[in-house]
Amino acid sequence: MQSYPWKHVWITGGSSGIGRELAVALHKAGVKVSVSARSADTLEALATEHEHIRGYPLDVTHEDAVGQTVAAIETERGPIDLAVLNAGFWELSDGNDLRLDLFKQSMDVNYMGVTNCLTPLVATMAGRGSGHVAVVASVAGYRGLPRSAYYGPTKAALNNLCESLQPDLNRRGVKLQVINPGFVRTPMTDKNDFPMPFLMEPSAAVSQILKGLAGERFEIAFPWQLVALLKFARILPISLYLWLMRTFVART
Ligand SMILES: NC(=O)c1ccc[n+]([C@@H]2O[C@H](COP(=O)([O-])OP(=O)(O)OC[C@H]3O[C@@H](n4cnc5c(N)ncnc54)[C@H](OP(=O)(O)O)[C@@H]3O)[C@@H](O)[C@H]2O)c1
Repeated sequence: MQSYPWKHVWITGGSSGIGRELAVALHKAGVKVSVSARSADTLEALATEHEHIRGYPLDVTHEDAVGQTVAAIETERGPIDLAVLNAGFWELSDGNDLRLDLFKQSMDVNYMGVTNCLTPLVATMAGRGSGHVAVVASVAGYRGLPRSAYYGPTKAALNNLCESLQPDLNRRGVKLQVINPGFVRTPMTDKNDFPMPFLMEPSAAVSQILKGLAGERFEIAFPWQLVALLKFARILPISLYLWLMRTFVART
């Protein structure tokens, strides 16, 4: 059995997709796992199937509830050694019909949801002088992508947030990492009607995540082919990049 350095892991967005796969993989490795998401029934079913997984229903956009949940998890199950802030929301944007509610929902769940969790976690972990937090962002945050106007900026903001906080948290004994996945087959991507290059299965994504979490690199990004392509796109001059994107949009 694979062994990991964490006794107790908290995962947000643990009811499906990457979060659920990660919870089960850690459970199999003998780690105590606490999972949160809004759907209490799904969490209960997951906990019933897995002895060392316990569900803590939570909407990460409710900041007071997040603080209470972190306190309840630590009181009932002991200190959180690793928190994986993974809850997320994705909706395709249409430049001809922009919706303010979707801009707000994306920012509320993907960005404020993370900061709502980070704040109480950092306070308790820094108080202990140890802890580990991983924020799930996306390669969609590397550069503005067509039809990603709701989602991409939230993930770019998470990368910036983690870069900003890492030196301070490191000094206070808290390890901070950012996870930038490419396309992974989950309920989130099942609804996509466009080609998803280098699409990965959740189990393969979770292997990469666990390997990265056990290592010391700040960024955990996969699959390497998509990461390389998008990191290259990041260094292209803006006029060339936008010309390429306009050409792509005109063809789709
Ligand atoms: N799949 C991909 O290709 C991909 C690529 C890059 C990054 N990501 C990121 O990976 C993370 C997981 O995505 P996934 O693909 O596994 O999607 P998923 O299967 O749709 O899972 C999303 C999870 O977030 C939870 N969630 C959504 N809104 C919430 C809220 N307000 N409060 C608490 N929990 C909430 C959902 O549960 P409830 O609905 O029960 O609350 C669910 O457990 C997301 O941050 C996503 O942006 C995914």
